[in-house]
Amino acid sequence: MKAAIVGLGYVGLPLSLQFARSGVDVLGLDVDKNKVDALNGSRSYIKHIEAGDIAAMVNAGRFEASTDFRRAKEAGAIIICVPTPLNRNREPDISYIIETGKSIAPHMARGTLVVLESTTYPGTTDEDLREVLESGSGMKAGVDFHLAFSPEREDPGNPDSKVELIPKVIGGYTPACLEKAKELYGCAIKKLVPLSSCRAAEATKILENTFRAVNIALVNELKIVYSAMDIDIWEVISAARTKPFGFMPFYPGPGLGGHCIPIDPFYLTWKAREYDQHTRFIELAGEVNASMPEYVVHRVAEALNSRRKAVNGSKVLVMGIAYKPDVDDDRESPSYVLMDLLKARGAEVSFYDPFVPEIHAGREHPHWAGLRSIAWDPKLLGAFDVVLISTNHKAVDYAELARHAGCIVDTRNAMGGIQTRPGQVWRA
Ligand SMILES: NC(=O)c1ccc[n+]([C@@H]2O[C@H](COP(=O)([O-])OP(=O)(O)OC[C@H]3O[C@@H](n4cnc5c(N)ncnc54)[C@H](O)[C@@H]3O)[C@@H](O)[C@H]2O)c1
Repeated sequence: MKAAIVGLGYVGLPLSLQFARSGVDVLGLDVDKNKVDALNGSRSYIKHIEAGDIAAMVNAGRFEASTDFRRAKEAGAIIICVPTPLNRNREPDISYIIETGKSIAPHMARGTLVVLESTTYPGTTDEDLREVLESGSGMKAGVDFHLAFSPEREDPGNPDSKVELIPKVIGGYTPACLEKAKELYGCAIKKLVPLSSCRAAEATKILENTFRAVNIALVNELKIVYSAMDIDIWEVISAARTKPFGFMPFYPGPGLGGHCIPIDPFYLTWKAREYDQHTRFIELAGEVNASMPEYVVHRVAEALNSRRKAVNGSKVLVMGIAYKPDVDDDRESPSYVLMDLLKARGAEVSFYDPFVPEIHAGREHPHWAGLRSIAWDPKLLGAFDVVLISTNHKAVDYAELARHAGCIVDTRNAMGGIQTRPGQVWRA
C-alpha cells in the first residue's frame, strides 16, 4: 500500500515516518522544495525529529518526498496536513486545504481515500474539500472515491507522546469511507476511535483545543486575582492537582501561542455564525488570554520602577521565543507580542532561546526577522535591566541566571525552587 502525505510539517512529517515504520510506502508531498530536498537527503528541520529516523526510512525505500503533485495518482490514500491559520480579520483561512484539493484532484485514481487532518471547522471536509475534489476529478465522494476527517493530536516536545499510541479519531463521509479510513490508520496507529461523520470528528478536535483555551484563560485570570491577594497561583495549582478526581491542572503564562490553541476555537466561532449561534466562552477566553502580554509588560514596568527605572531606555532580555518549552516552534508566540509592546514603550529588546538562534521571516512579525539570540554568557546576563522569562526551556540554567541577572520577571514559574535574592524575581 502506498500513502501520499501532503504537508510535511510538525504534523505530516512524524505521521509519514510512523506509516513508513509500519510498512506503508509513503510519498511525502510539499510545496516547499527546501523541505523536500532536506528529507530526501535525510536531514531534519524539526528539532524533536531525528535525522537518523528519516534516514532509516529513506534508506529502506519506504519514504520519499516530492513537490510533484501529479504523483498523487500512485497513492491509494492521500492524507492532507497543511496549515489552517486565521487571516488578518481573524477569520478561518482554509486556502491551503483548497489549494491542496485542487492540486491532487486531477490525479486521483478511482477508489482513492482522501483524509483531511488539518484542524478546521465542522463542514470543511464534506462541504469545502468535497466540492473541490469532486469538481477537479469529475468523481463523486462516497461513490468513486472515499473521504474522511481524522484530526492530528500531536504534542510536540513531549517525549511520551508517540504518534502510534495516541488514539485516532476518525469520521467518514459514508460508512464505507469510514471503513476504508480505519483500514488505513489501523496499519500504523494502535487505537482507533470511529465516529458517525466527518463533522463529528472535526468538532471533536475543536472541543479538545477549546477546552485548553478556556482553562488556560481561567488560570490566567486567577493568576491576577490571586496575585492581588498575595496568593501564589503556582502553589495553589500544585495543591489542587493532588485531588485524585475532578481536577486537571492548567498553567498560566504570558499569553497563548502555537499553531492550534489561539486559532482553532475561532474556526468554530466563524462557522457558528452561519447557524446564528454565539461562542461566548471562546470569545471570553480569547479576550483574557490576549490581554496577558499587557499584564506582563505592566509587571515589567513595576519591576523596573522598583529600581527607579523606566521601561523607556531599559535593556530587556526576553528569554524564550518558542511558544512552549523544549520546542523550536515560534508560531503565534506571545514572546513577539511582548517584544512589540516593550519596543513600543522605548525598551531595547534582545532575546535568548537555545532552540531559535535567529528569527526567520514568517507570516507573523516579519519586522523581527534577522534578530539573533544573544549567546549564553553570565556577563551579558548581568548587563540587562530586566530578564523576562516567557518560555521555560528545560535546557536553560536558571540557577546561573539567578546568580547573574539583576531583576527577573517570571511568567512560567521557571524560578520556582531556585535560590534567588529578595526582590530579584517578579511573578507575572
Ligand atoms: N503542530 C501541532 O502541534 C499540531 C497539532 C495538531 C493539529 N495541527 C494541525 O495540523 C495542521 C498542520 O499543522 P503543522 O503544525 O504541521 O503545520 P506546518 O506549517 O508545520 O506544516 C505544514 C506544511 O504544509 C506545507 N504546505 C503549505 N501549503 C501547501 C500546499 N498547498 N500543498 C502542500 N503542502 C503545503 C508547508 O510547506 C508545510 O511544510 C494544521 O491544521 C494544524 O492546526 C497541528
